[in-house]
Amino acid sequence: MDFLLFSLVTIIIAAVMQHLRRRRFNIPPGPPPHFLVGNLNQLKPQWTQSFSEWSQTYGPIISVWLGSQLSVVVSSSDLAKQVLRHKDYQLCNRQRTARMTQNGSDLIWSDYGQHYVKLRKLCTLELFSLKSIESFRSMREMEVRSMVRSIFMDLMSDDKKPVMLRNYLSSVALNIVSRLVIGKTFEPKEGKEFKSIVEKETRLPGATKLLDYTVWLKRFSSWFTSDKAFLKHMARRKNWFKEAVMGEVYGGGEQKCFVQSLLELKEKNELSEETVMGLVWNMLTAGADTNAITIEWAMAEMIRCPNVQEKVQNELDSVVGSKRLMSESDIPNLPYLQSVVKEALRLHPPTPLMLPHKASETVQIGGYKVPKGTTVYVNVQAIGRDSANWKNPYEFRPERFLEEETDVKGQDFRVLPFGSGRRVCPAAQLSINMMSLALGNLLHCFSWTTSTPRENIDMTEKPGLVCYMKTPLQAIASSRLPQDLYLNFSQKCI
Ligand code: HEM
Repeated sequence: MDFLLFSLVTIIIAAVMQHLRRRRFNIPPGPPPHFLVGNLNQLKPQWTQSFSEWSQTYGPIISVWLGSQLSVVVSSSDLAKQVLRHKDYQLCNRQRTARMTQNGSDLIWSDYGQHYVKLRKLCTLELFSLKSIESFRSMREMEVRSMVRSIFMDLMSDDKKPVMLRNYLSSVALNIVSRLVIGKTFEPKEGKEFKSIVEKETRLPGATKLLDYTVWLKRFSSWFTSDKAFLKHMARRKNWFKEAVMGEVYGGGEQKCFVQSLLELKEKNELSEETVMGLVWNMLTAGADTNAITIEWAMAEMIRCPNVQEKVQNELDSVVGSKRLMSESDIPNLPYLQSVVKEALRLHPPTPLMLPHKASETVQIGGYKVPKGTTVYVNVQAIGRDSANWKNPYEFRPERFLEEETDVKGQDFRVLPFGSGRRVCPAAQLSINMMSLALGNLLHCFSWTTSTPRENIDMTEKPGLVCYMKTPLQAIASSRLPQDLYLNFSQKCI
């Protein structure tokens, strides 16, 4: 009886509060919310698509009620500038939607403050400074070359068999990030377990959107599921971490890897164990998928547009030639390749809504009030596809970046794949280098096509926090360079 009464009172209070909040504030317009669930029941599985459609109807700033939680989504460059530059300080905290975010003791989910600034400085210095990026250059080149070699070996055994690019791309991206962060690549079993843990996290109770966002359902969820599944998962993650990461902390020769620096700080009591684990986890999860996803989209676009593929290959042939493989030091001399990477990031940003921000106080955006506690999303996918910013926005045309010098690392608000402001992705430059190197090598070493007509490539998106191709790209590769280049590349790269 107590249980029923409590539920009823909670439901009524939640509904009344939601109603009062909507009336009291001049909040942005949006689809009419339903009793208790808000707009949750109207959301398509492709969230970004719903947000974009509602923006067409209600304008570039909309309110969406996810249960009892108000979210504001902005979809224009001007409003993105207000959020990420003018009101950055008030909006740079994170909305932590799942328990996996560990109360923000890590970097990604930390609120802006002393702890955050300390971690951000540490990561920038150890991982993302130009000096650090340069010092790991030959490691990235080795990893990309061994990907090229594996593709070549597979072609030798059957050159008609389509290449499932995603498998190679996710391995090379995870290898590069893991060598950077923990000084080694994972054993196949460890890598498999890592992917399985990440995949499981999105399906755990407490990570589900509905339960997370709806105050009264959250209460129900904790009654029914308790903390058992969550605790079991965290124990699994911790075990994996102890075995795969801490089991053997490599030095990478003379170079100290990131986790060693973190452990030294832990010894001095400057970082907690939870933070060390959180930081390593942040880098592995943020780093592996984003790069692989972008390259997969870029490759799909280039198979659909063979003239673009040919142009990149002509550029590579004239700058690199056919007697060696491409290295990162070639990138400044490959402007068309750089434009391909930018165009892929514009049209297919891997995190279409960035990461959720939170209003730490009530602010005014675009003439509307955004109440304290609101989740704020910047729809960078819609901004990159906005015809107010880009001519024929859905056309994959890298030339647009040659015609006009455009920054993609957070200075130009028409293209924001890495975000902007205080929370901008700290790995933007590293990622651009990684993607240019991997794409350049894939296109210099092989020509790419599909066994079906290229118009049939399925470009459907499967968005979540990151936006994959729904159907993994399968492509037919044919080699373009002398055989010995694939097999005998020097272990020590230039
Ligand atoms: C194509 C590649 C990548 C893209 C497009 C990308 C994009 C983003 C975006 C949009 C954000 C959120 C910005 C915001 O909320 O304002 C972010 C944050 C972050 N990214 Fe990346 N990212 C990429 C690669 C990487 C890599 C390789 C790493 C690490 C090795 C990384 C580590 C992080 C971290 C730690 C944050 C949180 C920063 C903070 O909250 O202060 N990212 N990234």
